[in-house]
Formats: sequence, structure tokens, C-alpha cells
Amino acid sequence: MYSEKVIDHFSNPRNVGEIENADGVGTVGNSKCGDIMRMYLKVDDNGVITDCKFKTFGCGAAIATSSMATEMIKGKTLKEALKLTNKAVAEALDGLPPVKMHCSLLAEEAVKAAVEDYMKKHPEAVI
Ligand code: FES
Repeated sequence: MYSEKVIDHFSNPRNVGEIENADGVGTVGNSKCGDIMRMYLKVDDNGVITDCKFKTFGCGAAIATSSMATEMIKGKTLKEALKLTNKAVAEALDGLPPVKMHCSLLAEEAVKAAVEDYMKKHPEAVI
């Protein structure tokens, strides 16, 4: 029921951890299941995400989608990162079971929350 990519990103998640002095940090949660995802961004002067890490206390699909989301936004601009949808993350993982689609929403929301945090800390930034 899970694609090989989901199982791979769940068993061997990329970019797990924290970034000290991150430029943007976003934490989101799903009130129904109680799972939590935190995303850390390092951003250069051109608004490019040079590093990205995550910590997820949650189900396998949430871990796999956060892992994939970090890979998808690394090297991208903040503007591009804001366009990342949970659907795109799920598609990059070759799909998720319908009952697990809400888990991918956490990844989209965590990226957006981290970018918003960056914007709050850097009001002068134009993205
Ligand atoms: Fe909570 Fe998947 S069941 S994020």
C-alpha cells in the first residue's frame, strides 16, 4: 500500500535534525492525530534555501513527506518553496494512500511556516 519511495524516505529520511541559528523555523501540528513537524531553513542573501532540516514526531507518511519536502526545497528560492504543495510532495513519493494524504499537508504547512518565520525576522527581505 505504500510506494517504494515512501518506504525509502521513511526508513532512511534525508535531512533529519536541527539547524543551529536557523534563519527560519516553522512548527505545525495536526490536532486530530497529534503529530508535529518542525522545519528549519538556512537562507542566503539571495533568498535561496541553502540548507533545510526537519524533525517530525509523527507517522511514517509524515516522516516520508517531510524528508521529501526538504529535498524539494533545498537550493530553491523562498518564493519557489512557498509554491510547494502537499500534492506535489505526495506525487514525488509516487503517491500516498488517500487516508494518509492529510499527513503530507503537514509538510506543506511546515515549509510555509518556516518561510513566514524567516519573513518575520527579515522584514526587509523581498521574495
Ligand atoms: Fe498524523 Fe500522519 S497520522 S500526520
